[in-house]
Amino acid sequence: MSFDLVLFGGTGDLAWRKLMPALFQAFRHGTLPAGGRIIGIGRDTLSAEQYRERIRARFDQVELAKRPSVEEFTRFAALLEFVPMDLSRPDDYARLGATLQQRQADTVVMYVATAPSLFTTVCEQLARAGLNTAQTRVVLEKPLGHDLASNRAINAAVGQSFSEKQIFRIDHYLGKPAVQNLFALRFGNALFEPLWRREHIANIQITIAEELGVENRGAFYETTGALRDMVQNHALQLLCAIGMEPPINAHADAIRDEKLKVLRSLKPWTPETLAQDVIRGQYAAGSIAGAAVPAYREEKGVDAQSHTETFVALRTEISNWRWAGVPFYIRTGKRLAGRDARIVVNFRPTPHAIFNSQMDVSNRLVINLQPKDGLELHLLAQGQSNRRNSQTLAPVQLDLDFDKRFGSGRVGAYERLLLDVIDGRLNLFVRSDEQIEAWRWVEPIIEHWKHDAQGPRLYAAGTWGPSAASAMIARDGYCWAEEC
Ligand code: BG6
Repeated sequence: MSFDLVLFGGTGDLAWRKLMPALFQAFRHGTLPAGGRIIGIGRDTLSAEQYRERIRARFDQVELAKRPSVEEFTRFAALLEFVPMDLSRPDDYARLGATLQQRQADTVVMYVATAPSLFTTVCEQLARAGLNTAQTRVVLEKPLGHDLASNRAINAAVGQSFSEKQIFRIDHYLGKPAVQNLFALRFGNALFEPLWRREHIANIQITIAEELGVENRGAFYETTGALRDMVQNHALQLLCAIGMEPPINAHADAIRDEKLKVLRSLKPWTPETLAQDVIRGQYAAGSIAGAAVPAYREEKGVDAQSHTETFVALRTEISNWRWAGVPFYIRTGKRLAGRDARIVVNFRPTPHAIFNSQMDVSNRLVINLQPKDGLELHLLAQGQSNRRNSQTLAPVQLDLDFDKRFGSGRVGAYERLLLDVIDGRLNLFVRSDEQIEAWRWVEPIIEHWKHDAQGPRLYAAGTWGPSAASAMIARDGYCWAEEC
């Protein structure tokens, strides 16, 4: 199968940091279909040779194991072309059309990794130039809008030029091996399903913690914040994966229908829950791995009085028969105590205690997403004791390390998702109605914050965020997994 992958934003940050390295990995693994072209699009007037040279230079910054040898790069570079374009000029789309016409590939992927403000223009212009053929797929990067109205407008405009089956909305968390494993755990095993409900589960905690600050994206982040950057998409997709009903089959729409139901079942916000169950924070100066780091307000491109949140913790519920009354906690932030993404499922305690145990630990399943990829099942066992007839229980854990079991060279998120686009598999992409529903649910929080003069609570970089996040969960009688 031949393909042309057209990369709008071909000289941008995402292309250098994620897409090119992922495409190279697919090439190295032999999974990128032979006979493809990768056509970078950018404003600069570069020749294909200059573009290849820029990419080669950027590969020097990629981790060693993922860097091409000279010989590998020469073979990979043969796939790369460059077409300079001003994205508002119809003539430039005609030139792109001529380049595509040379080959008439079986599949043409239009990957729009530009500023979101250009999504609509690019899709409209592609249609006007007749480049929205049945062979074409369009990939849209997040953020797709900054609120419900702008998200609807983008989806409506893109929907004028492409059918839903041609639109691949990326949420790279869905491409992570650990998230694939979560689906496998829930729907490939009979063991957990009977327990996966309110009768047996006390609460579920989703944490996506980053050590990094905003790096060189201060200006972008200022108008985005953690709620739009992480909660509306990645965290809610994880919540769907953990909370959804088993789909009737593994087809894209069967999976997406079930995720949509979860989003529709999220408990609506009230003035009380907005005030009590959503905590926003912003990092102050602190230290990460022993090195001093500046406050968010001191980062480049950030307002010195900024109210943008770099941390969110919230409590919600999925109002359906399976989950009624079970709190789901979501927490994400930058400059936290570690890079750590995990989902913790806390089971209910035993109904009756027969051991005189000091231990007040319930069973817990921890789904580690990164940096570790694996599962931990926390149990209690009879601990060793010198005293006769001792009934002391001790915590033990079953620990599955998927990197060890399957090898750490597994397919990365972008590699997996890019191959899925080329093959036309929509399972791991987000449908427009899911996105709209997720925006609908976060919008009251955005509105609430607009009128909340207090602003985010400051937390020292290198900690777990503002103490209010712990107080919030403590009100239910629980604590974050690292606290208990
Ligand atoms: C992106 C956000 O979507 O996800 C970034 O825009 C964030 O701010 C990143 O750092 C986190 O992704 P990962 O794969 O490093 O956890």
